Amino acid sequence: SRHVLAIDIGGTKLAVGIVAETGELIDSVRTPTHAEQGPDRVLERLLDLSHSLLRRSPVPVERVGVGCGGPLDTRRGLIQNPPNLPGWIDYPLVRRLEDSLALPVALDNDANAAALAEFHFGAGQGTRHMVYLTISTGVGGGLILNGELYRGKRGNAGELGHIQVKYDGDPCNCGGRGCLEGYASGTNIARRARDLAVLHPESMLALTPRAEITAQTVLAALRAGDAVAWRLWNDTLDLMAAGVASIVNAFDPERVVIGGGITNFGDLLFPPLRQRVTQRTMPALMSGVEICPAVFAENVGILGAAAVAFRERRGVIQ
Ligand code: BGC
Ligand code: NA
Ligand code: ZN
Repeated sequence: SRHVLAIDIGGTKLAVGIVAETGELIDSVRTPTHAEQGPDRVLERLLDLSHSLLRRSPVPVERVGVGCGGPLDTRRGLIQNPPNLPGWIDYPLVRRLEDSLALPVALDNDANAAALAEFHFGAGQGTRHMVYLTISTGVGGGLILNGELYRGKRGNAGELGHIQVKYDGDPCNCGGRGCLEGYASGTNIARRARDLAVLHPESMLALTPRAEITAQTVLAALRAGDAVAWRLWNDTLDLMAAGVASIVNAFDPERVVIGGGITNFGDLLFPPLRQRVTQRTMPALMSGVEICPAVFAENVGILGAAAVAFRERRGVIQ
């Protein structure tokens, strides 16, 4: 079978893999993004990983698929200043990769790519209308409508992290305010927990040195029954529910698939989120909608990027 090199560029992690057309992951490597170092340094590390995978690959690789945080321009192959990749301003990612790897490169938004992977091989199988939401360093989305990824005019449809859940809310790195990402991303859950730890020295959150508080700290505090952590989490669930309710009202999906680090919250996330979304969505649209975790967890980005490469090979440029 045919194989592609798949590249996933996230705000925290870079992952590169070799994937067969069947979806089988042949090999993969990952490394921290260190996004603060800017695009050239990140690209350097990506190319190192890619070349070393290609060198040791047991199979020939015919093309490359890339999933990257947006906004971006899929036609021109540019990354256009994503909230979690500072300094990538009209960065010509596709050309740089093609020059170094000497293979054709296809680009899509990371969450759009992950949506494709879950739709074809994972939690979206058997549906025709599916929304994918990733809640990790950033919050992203992908819309499968009528059995196809809906990409918009340049690949930026489905920026679901930047739907606004508070009209007068906090400024977001995207330039908007009150965005879902500004509250619910792993980074922002941690930011809000750090603020609360200062205000509430009695909270378990205050036991962790301030700079080391992460979303995992919040999860541990929830499990221990910490009241401050629970208030933060209940607010977060309400904000997520506001976002998901708007998404369900807008697209009438069969399934909402949630991926990213937030799925570590497991039963603290899915049942209460479902209950809150149901309270906020028109009953006719909500009936039968499933809200479920992604299947691929760690590898969804690589598999998604592979799906982007294979789609392009078939000449399906949606
Ligand atoms: C970006 C999206 C991306 C998401 C997850 C968001 O901040 O705007 O394009 O899909 O982060 O990486
Ligand atoms: Na998207
Ligand atoms: Zn935003």
